[in-house]
Amino acid sequence: MNEIKQRGQWGSTFGFLMASIGSAIGLGNLWGFPYKMGSTGGFAFLVVYLILVVTVGIALMMGEFALGRKTGTGVGAYAKLGEKYKVLGWMAAFCPFLILSFYAVLAGMTLRYCVGFLVQIFGMDGFAGQGSGFFGFLLYDTKSMVLFLALAMLITMAIVMGGVQGGIEKFSKVAMPALGVILIGIIIFVAFQPGAIEGYKFMFKPDFSQFSDFNSFFNVLKVASGQMFFSLSLAMGINITFGSYLSKEKSIQRNAVIVPFSDTLFALFAGMMIMPACAAFGVDYGAGPGLLFASMQNVFIDGMGGMAGNVVGFLFYFLVFIAAITSSIALLEVLTSGIVDKRIAKGKDPSRKKISLIFAVCIFVVGLPAAMDALGSGGAAIPAPYELLGLTPDSPGFAMWNDCWLDLYDMITEGVLMPLGALFMSLLLGWKFPNLVKEECEESGNAFKGAGYFKFAFRFLIPLVMILVLYTQIQAFFL
Ligand code: PFF
Repeated sequence: MNEIKQRGQWGSTFGFLMASIGSAIGLGNLWGFPYKMGSTGGFAFLVVYLILVVTVGIALMMGEFALGRKTGTGVGAYAKLGEKYKVLGWMAAFCPFLILSFYAVLAGMTLRYCVGFLVQIFGMDGFAGQGSGFFGFLLYDTKSMVLFLALAMLITMAIVMGGVQGGIEKFSKVAMPALGVILIGIIIFVAFQPGAIEGYKFMFKPDFSQFSDFNSFFNVLKVASGQMFFSLSLAMGINITFGSYLSKEKSIQRNAVIVPFSDTLFALFAGMMIMPACAAFGVDYGAGPGLLFASMQNVFIDGMGGMAGNVVGFLFYFLVFIAAITSSIALLEVLTSGIVDKRIAKGKDPSRKKISLIFAVCIFVVGLPAAMDALGSGGAAIPAPYELLGLTPDSPGFAMWNDCWLDLYDMITEGVLMPLGALFMSLLLGWKFPNLVKEECEESGNAFKGAGYFKFAFRFLIPLVMILVLYTQIQAFFL
């Protein structure tokens, strides 16, 4: 009991579903999903993504929950399975670190837009005279980028340090549904803009041209798989940690379906908001990591305009910021609690505050390049990776992994480490500990459904998909 107390506040105060849905729904859905769909052909991406979530995502999430509950720990779960698997825990823990370093940059940008619209409500100019073109300006406004990165990191750290997750839980119970409502409102508004229909066609009209050659199919597979890892918070110890707080009577299988389902619903909403907005306001679907900001600014400033645009813009970015913060708390928490758990096990003082401060500072520093390279637009305060490599956007070696620091960090995590982690985890669960998931799921008294399928998935399907993804990623380095 004492150990549970010392271990942290999540156990009793955070509703399990709220915590895992809160961590799952975030910028991955609103920012990542539309821009990745936009750069890989719309429909093709959507189909591959949905198939991946159903066949691979649910199984992985279930495996992680089971692993966490069985071992009663987070990233340390692998070490409990066997000393030699320890490295998997380290690999998993490195991902939240690198992800948070760019996640906080984006969270900071949403905060900047939120502040901008708030200021506009009071009749002042919140966007430096740039209106809907603000995005291009902000990218080169290095001071603001760094300031807002620092603010996002500070807020995340303060919450993790202070353990006020109880408050955040109550807050996000209101904020998440409110975000859903505002998304639907904006979807309806955008639907009535001339030209919006093209955006739906881009998403939903069957177009298999991306599947006509192997390379582009594998590219879609790689991007969709990365997005799945990111959006479902897989392969980074998060769900293992959540599982460890899940009481024995709760159904793992049910939760492993509800979380991906809700997460995918939000991603679809975001797509149905942004793709038609791009079509209506002439924003390129393939605009890359800035797509959310660039397209929505048109909607609020040019489309809605005036006070309505300012108020809706403010509410939208405020709620997106909350969604981002609930996710960044989870990212920092998994790192902090990983060390806190270790210290408690060794009989040392947990030093939660000190540890979260050290992580926050390191993450801020690693995040700086992602905040300062103008997302690779060229000639910024810090050169983008492709510029360091002596390339230009027209050179043959220019690729999605080197076009900016953010995409590089993204590639290292969701392109390499996460599929690698998932590969090993599914091999372990499929071959080495074949009864772990089934037995753990049955603890709650429910029969284990789909045993045959999950056995096949852990043994063959997931490893195969992961190998294809890794192969494609490695190939991309040498293009
Ligand atoms: N799943 C989150 C999103 O889609 O924004 C990102 C994330 C949050 C990943 C928390 C991992 C995590 F622990």
